[in-house]
Parts: sequence; C-alpha cells; structure tokens
Amino acid sequence: MISLMPRLEAVYNKLSPCNTIADIGCDHAYIPIRIIENNLANTVIATDLNKGPLDIAMSNIKKHGFEDRIKTRLGSGLRTLDKGEAQEIIIAGMGGEVIADIIDADKDTAIASTLILQPMNSQYEIRKYLVNNGFKITAEDIVTEGFKVYNIIVAGRGEGEKYENDFYYQLPPYLYSHKNFKPLYDKKMREFVKVVSGLEKSGDTGSEKLLKYKFFLEELKKI
Ligand SMILES: C[S@@+](CC[C@H](N)C(=O)[O-])C[C@H]1O[C@@H](n2cnc3c(N)ncnc32)[C@H](O)[C@@H]1O
Repeated sequence: MISLMPRLEAVYNKLSPCNTIADIGCDHAYIPIRIIENNLANTVIATDLNKGPLDIAMSNIKKHGFEDRIKTRLGSGLRTLDKGEAQEIIIAGMGGEVIADIIDADKDTAIASTLILQPMNSQYEIRKYLVNNGFKITAEDIVTEGFKVYNIIVAGRGEGEKYENDFYYQLPPYLYSHKNFKPLYDKKMREFVKVVSGLEKSGDTGSEKLLKYKFFLEELKKI
C-alpha cells in the first residue's frame, strides 16, 4: 500500500466510493494510486498543467501497474474534464486563490461534482468564494504535519451559509470543536499578527487591509 503523508491521507479520507474521481494537479499521483489500490473508484483521471509532474505521475502509475485504471491528462484545471465525468474532484496542494480561479474558470464542471479541496493558503478567500458562487461547504478537516497545519474543505452544489461577520470565513465556528483547532488557532494568530505588524512597520497605517486584520485579531482573541 502506498504510504501517504498526513495531509494527503486526510484528503484521501474525504473521498467517497464512486465510478470516477479526478485529481487536478496530481503531480506524483499518490492519491490516484491509493484510490485504485483500495478500489475506491473504478477509474481515476489524473491531470496536471505541467509535463514534468505528469511524467512523474505516469512513471509512478506504471510502477504500480495501474495504467488501465488511471488516465493521465495534460492541461489546466477542469478544462481537462467533461462536465459530470468525475463524481468527485480533488484539487490539493495549491494556493486557495489558484483553486478558486480553477473552479471559477469552469464553474459548470465544478458544480456538477463534489469538490475535495486542500488549499495551502487563502482559506478565507476560497470559503468566501464557494458560498457566494452556488456551493455549500459540507465538511472540513484540519490536519497537522509537524508544525504545519492544513485545511481540507469539501464542497458541492448548494446554498452555503453566508456570514455577516467576515471573520467566520477565516475561522468558521464549526471548526472550533475540531481536535486540531488549537494548532489552527495558533497559526491564524501568527498570521494576523504578522500582517498587522508588517503593515504598521511599512507605515501603511490607514489601509483597509490593516483595519480588517486588526478586526480579525480582535475577533480571534474572543474565542
Ligand atoms: C504542489 S503540487 C501538489 C501536488 C498534489 N496535488 C499534492 O497535493 O501533493 C501542485 C501541482 O499542481 C499543478 N498545477 C498548478 N496549476 C495547475 C492548474 N491550473 N491545473 C492543473 N494543475 C496545476 C502543478 O504543476 C503541480 O504539479
């Protein structure tokens, strides 16, 4: 069985059995290989924008003898898929704004499937994008790898909860009881303090961003 680091294991654990799963930006193809090893789906479509990572994926797939069940495709985002072709779509290990751009570029394809997203940053932007664009966040997970903290967001078509208080897109209340909430809280504290002190040091004391992050910091301290 292919061994996955906790981040990828947590992404894998959010998948449900189905006919076809797509992994967009698959790179090494570790998740597609695990899916076939466990027979979680009949077929996986493993895509990447770049030839280098896709070559690595193809070599790993070949090593496991899964060429007939994992199809590789070179190309950007969801353009490599037909609408409804995959019941579940993974987009992991990229920046949150890149992930939101990928979804937005082919919204009809995205909204027809369940999305398992693992943004490396900008979780705020992606949550806000999803609930304001016809998606509902149905589950989230927090996973740690040493000092690193990752979020996994599961979303699908639906009416998502829209927050009046913008802070809740940073830290939605449903995460507060998660066993890994404390490391996430500490990470957010470090992030907000860094943004606020950076803007203050640069003399950018009247900016909208500074006011926003000071507000986030105050809200964080209330939890
Ligand atoms: C850091 S790797 C993450 C690999 C794997 N998904 C993971 O989570 O470990 C990001 C991969 O996404 C690919 N990528 C970046 N932008 C992409 C896009 N628009 N469409 C498809 N793949 C993309 C990169 O080439 C790279 O292989």
